[in-house]
Amino acid sequence: MSGFPEGFLWGAATAAYQIEGSPLADGAGASIWHRFTHDPRLMIATGDTGDVACDHYNRMESDVELMKRLGLQAYRFSVSWSRVLPEGTGRVNEAGLDFYRRLVDRLLEAGIEPLATLYHWDLPAALDDRGGWLNRESAEWFAEYAAVMFGALDGKVKKWATLNEPWVVADGGYLNGVLAPGHRSIFECAIVSRNLMRAHGRAVQAYRECGAHEVGLVINIEPKYPASDRPEDLAATARADAYMNRQYFDPALLGTCPAELREIYGEAWEDWSAEDLALCCQPVDFVGINYYTRSVVRASDTAWPLFAEHVVQEGAPHTETDWEVFPEAMTRTLLWFRERYGDLPVYIMENGAAFSDPATSEADGIFDEDRCQYLTEHIAAVRDAIAAGVDIRGYMVWSLFDNLEWALGYAKRFGIVHVDYETLARTPKRSAALYREIIASNGTELERAA
Ligand code: BGC
Repeated sequence: MSGFPEGFLWGAATAAYQIEGSPLADGAGASIWHRFTHDPRLMIATGDTGDVACDHYNRMESDVELMKRLGLQAYRFSVSWSRVLPEGTGRVNEAGLDFYRRLVDRLLEAGIEPLATLYHWDLPAALDDRGGWLNRESAEWFAEYAAVMFGALDGKVKKWATLNEPWVVADGGYLNGVLAPGHRSIFECAIVSRNLMRAHGRAVQAYRECGAHEVGLVINIEPKYPASDRPEDLAATARADAYMNRQYFDPALLGTCPAELREIYGEAWEDWSAEDLALCCQPVDFVGINYYTRSVVRASDTAWPLFAEHVVQEGAPHTETDWEVFPEAMTRTLLWFRERYGDLPVYIMENGAAFSDPATSEADGIFDEDRCQYLTEHIAAVRDAIAAGVDIRGYMVWSLFDNLEWALGYAKRFGIVHVDYETLARTPKRSAALYREIIASNGTELERAA
C-alpha cells in the first residue's frame, strides 16, 4: 500500500501568462499583465515580459507530447480571459477559444486529464479600464466569461477552478502594488477581496446552470507559526493567518469573514452584506490548495497593516525565492483545513520550488537534486495527511516548465522541465524523471525513486 488511493491524480501545473507568449496573437486583447510588463516605469525590475515566455502558444502540440513522455496523468492550465473575450465581455474571439479547444483535445488524446483554471491573474485590460476588480460588476463579467468556457469545454474538462489564489491578486495587485495592476491602497484591497469572492460565487452559479462535472477554487495556504508564546506574537500570528489563510476560504466555505479582518483593514473595512456572503458561499465540489512554505510570525509596531512580521529562520534550508523548506507544515495545513472546513475533496494544485539549477552535463543532464528532495519530502507530507484521513485526490507539481515568475521575471526557475530562453529548447530535469517514477508507482517508489 503506497499511501495514495487508487485513482490519485498526478500532474503538473502552469498558468497562461507565465508560459504562453504571443499575448496579442490572433485577435487576443491585452491583459493587465501585458500592460504591467510593458509599463515604461519597469514595474518588473528585470524588464522581462510575457511576449515570448515559453512560446507554449506555438509549441502546444509538442508540449503535450512531452507531458505524455513524462507520464503525467493530469495537466492544470489556466485560460487567458482576454484571448477568449478580448474586451472582457461580449464578443468571443473564436481563434483564442480554439487554442484551448485544441489543447484540451490534444491532452485527451494523450490520456491526460485537463484541469482548467479560469483566472490566474491576467484580467483583460479592457475591464481594468472599467475599474477591474474594484467594480462590483466584475462578478457578472466573470460569470459571463466562465459560462463561455463551460459552454465550450465542459464534458471534456471535468474539473474547473474559478480563481487561483485570490489573496495574491488582492495583496500583490492592490495593496502592495508588486503585481498587476500595481495599485497600493488598503481600501482597494478590501473591495477587491470581496469582489473576487463574489465573482467566484457567480461563476459557480453559472456552472450549476450549464456544467455537469466539478467546480471549485484554488487558494494558497501558508501556515503561520508564532515566534514565541508572548500574547502579542500569538495575536500577530492570528492576524497573519486570518489575512492570508482564512480571508478567502471562510467566505467561500463557511459564509463568514474572519473577525481579525476588521482590525487589520481598520477604516477600510466594510462588513459584507448577508447577500454578498451568501453569494460567495456556493457549494463547491472540491478545493485546490497551493502550498509552498510556512511563516514564523512576531508582532511588529511598524509592519502595517498587519503589525506582524515574518521571522527568517536562520540556518534552515531555503529555496531561491527565500522560502523556508518545511514540509511538515504541509501536512499540518491539510489537517487544519479538514478540521476547519470539513471533509471536502482536496487537490494539491501547486507545490514546488525555485532552485538555481546546476550546470548541465551531457552525462547527467540537469541534476536538480534540491528540487528532487523538496518534491519527495512534500509528496511524503501529502501521504501523511492522507494517512490521517484527509480526502486528497491529486497532486500537481508547480511547475511543468521554468517560466515567467511574475515580478521576479525568468530568473527564478520552478520547472521540472528546463527552458532555454534563447532557443526555447525544453530539457526535462532529473526531477522530471523522479516524478515519472513516482507517478508510475502511484507513490510506492517515493523514497526509493529519490
Ligand atoms: C502562483 C504561481 C507562481 C507560484 C510560485 C503561486 O503563487 O499561483 O503562478 O508562479 O506560486 O511563486
